[in-house]
Amino acid sequence: MSGLLAGKRLLVTGVITDASIAFSVAKLAQENGAQVVLTGYGRLSLVERIARRLPQPAPIIELDVTDADHLAGLGDRVREHVDGLDGVVHSIGFAPQSCLGGGFLDAPWEDVATALHVSTYSYKSLAMAALPLMSAGGAVVGLTFDATKAWPVYDWMGVAKAGLESASRYLALHLGKQGIRSNLVAAGPLRTIAAKSIPGFDQFEEAWAERAPLGWSLTDQEPAARACLALLSDWFPATTGEIVHVDGGYHAIGA
Ligand SMILES: NC(=O)c1ccc[n+]([C@@H]2O[C@H](COP(=O)([O-])OP(=O)(O)OC[C@H]3O[C@@H](n4cnc5c(N)ncnc54)[C@H](O)[C@@H]3O)[C@@H](O)[C@H]2O)c1
Repeated sequence: MSGLLAGKRLLVTGVITDASIAFSVAKLAQENGAQVVLTGYGRLSLVERIARRLPQPAPIIELDVTDADHLAGLGDRVREHVDGLDGVVHSIGFAPQSCLGGGFLDAPWEDVATALHVSTYSYKSLAMAALPLMSAGGAVVGLTFDATKAWPVYDWMGVAKAGLESASRYLALHLGKQGIRSNLVAAGPLRTIAAKSIPGFDQFEEAWAERAPLGWSLTDQEPAARACLALLSDWFPATTGEIVHVDGGYHAIGA
């Protein structure tokens, strides 16, 4: 098998439709020589249907990343398909409606706690669940939306992403001794289920269309997926705790 990820064994979370960033990652990874195991949340029959659109069959393991039993059993479930993991992709985010769309000042703690559990803490939980299968050279990659700024309508999801960005740096710190890297891709806006659940998401779409120096496609997940592949590959061997912007250059530009 040839390709950027030849021989790599990957665990990819977050496929729910073929617009999911994770679907593009899984597809490109298979096309580039990787063996892919998927995890699915909730509607597993839907995930199975979407997975059939991948170039090769991929086993699917049920994983609610907030479920301690699922996390505890993940290693054994993965071992049924591969004898180890070279990479893990965290492509998971969720916040209750109260946390989004301008609700920052009113969202109750219970809802904020859910957002942080699913979108932030889970990055560490997933990495730790996969760690027994990983060895030096392994990589964990997640997806963020630039959390250095307060965005209109992103609200507590923005706080969750700021936490995710910090958690990735701490994971880099704590797993570095084992030779395992942790990096994030900061993607621009893409029309996925997660994005459509954000009231007012169209504001991002308009802003990116006007300002991204390279231009930006709201329906092309491949640039973000390519960056994930690069970070999972052997071509960033000394890079960890990093955030790679895949946003058409938007983050670099002033008002
Ligand atoms: N779409 C964008 O504009 C955009 C931009 C930057 C970053 N991101 C991030 O990319 C990642 C993937 O999102 P997407 O845009 O592909 O949307 P998506 O809706 O396709 O994927 C989100 C995934 O999270 C999963 N999920 C939710 N709760 C879960 C739980 N408890 N356990 C396990 N999985 C759970 C869903 O099943 C779904 O597969 C998210 O972290 C998102 O915040 C998205």
